[in-house]
Amino acid sequence: MKVGILAAGGIAHKMAKTLVGLNHAEIELYAVASRSLDKAKAFASEYSMPVAYGSYEELAQDDKVDLIYIASPHSEHHHHAMLCLKHKKALLVEKAFTANEQMAKDVLAFAKEQQTLVAEAIWTRYMPSRSIIAKAIDDGKIGKVHSIMANLGYAVANKERIIKPELAGGALLDLGVYPINFAMMFFGHDLASVSGTCIKADTGVDLMDSITLTWHDGKIACLHATANGPADRNGIIYGEKGYMVVTNINNPEKVEIFDNDHKLVEELPLPKQVSGYEYQVISCLNALKEGKLETPEMTHTEIIEVMQVMDSLRSDWGIKFPFE
Ligand SMILES: NC(=O)c1ccc[n+]([C@@H]2O[C@H](COP(=O)([O-])OP(=O)(O)OC[C@H]3O[C@@H](n4cnc5c(N)ncnc54)[C@H](OP(=O)(O)O)[C@@H]3O)[C@@H](O)[C@H]2O)c1
Repeated sequence: MKVGILAAGGIAHKMAKTLVGLNHAEIELYAVASRSLDKAKAFASEYSMPVAYGSYEELAQDDKVDLIYIASPHSEHHHHAMLCLKHKKALLVEKAFTANEQMAKDVLAFAKEQQTLVAEAIWTRYMPSRSIIAKAIDDGKIGKVHSIMANLGYAVANKERIIKPELAGGALLDLGVYPINFAMMFFGHDLASVSGTCIKADTGVDLMDSITLTWHDGKIACLHATANGPADRNGIIYGEKGYMVVTNINNPEKVEIFDNDHKLVEELPLPKQVSGYEYQVISCLNALKEGKLETPEMTHTEIIEVMQVMDSLRSDWGIKFPFE
């Protein structure tokens, strides 16, 4: 599978390094496209990639490309996905999938029409830690689960793609999306309510979010995201017999189980990863081989449902992007 990278920013480098480190016989880091040809050439040479393009359109038109990884800001995902789908390119689109639910629906409807694979690069859904945690819950290690607390925070408020409304900035789409996915991965998508509050920047985007989700079967999640500074990134899943502490919900490093007396009873082993970024690409490879149009780790319905949660929060907070 020849992989093309659309946009040569921060996360594109992480993806390229990961695929070099993965060294998978069936995955080739093939092409990169940037709005600047010089930038694309420098990127390609850093990772020994054969092809560099000075426009995204050229990458979309390259018949040899099997999968395009879209690594542009949130505001651009819709436009870039539609461009690639016009050329029937399979896609792995960075989170947040698009700026809003309608844009996600447009992309997925066009992908269906074109019979093309589209996946969301929400890496935590694809990692082995997900099934390890889910199995521990299913095995009843902490009893019947009822609540989740999770947070994610980094000092990123001064980044253009976070602070600018025209790039669909804000903590929610960039950071809040992780605790939301953490909660929905383990408690499911049958939500009864979505509520929250936020603190905004002068530009109008949200910088700190407090989010509460409830489920029809009586579960609850209290989630926090901030672009103002680092948070401990813990995710805690509570059950009737104990609780599970996941260190770093953005890329789980440790999963500990505590009992009723707050005693550590078990640490679940996690496999060594290249970076954690590899699993979503391997999932796309498998989906392409099997002729699937979505990945089982994050189905199209799930993509839409996460976007609905974020749309609902933004609507309550009075946050509208200029292009909406
Ligand atoms: N999974 C994770 O851990 C993780 C971490 C960080 C970010 N992300 C996601 O990855 C995506 C990109 O984030 P990033 O941190 O890589 O951002 P970034 O460093 O700002 O790079 C974004 C790139 O997008 C391209 N671009 C296209 N249109 C643009 C526009 N109008 N304004 C600015 N840049 C534009 C640029 O590439 P060219 O100049 O080469 O065209 C730019 O370098 C986002 O969806 C973000 O949420 C994921």
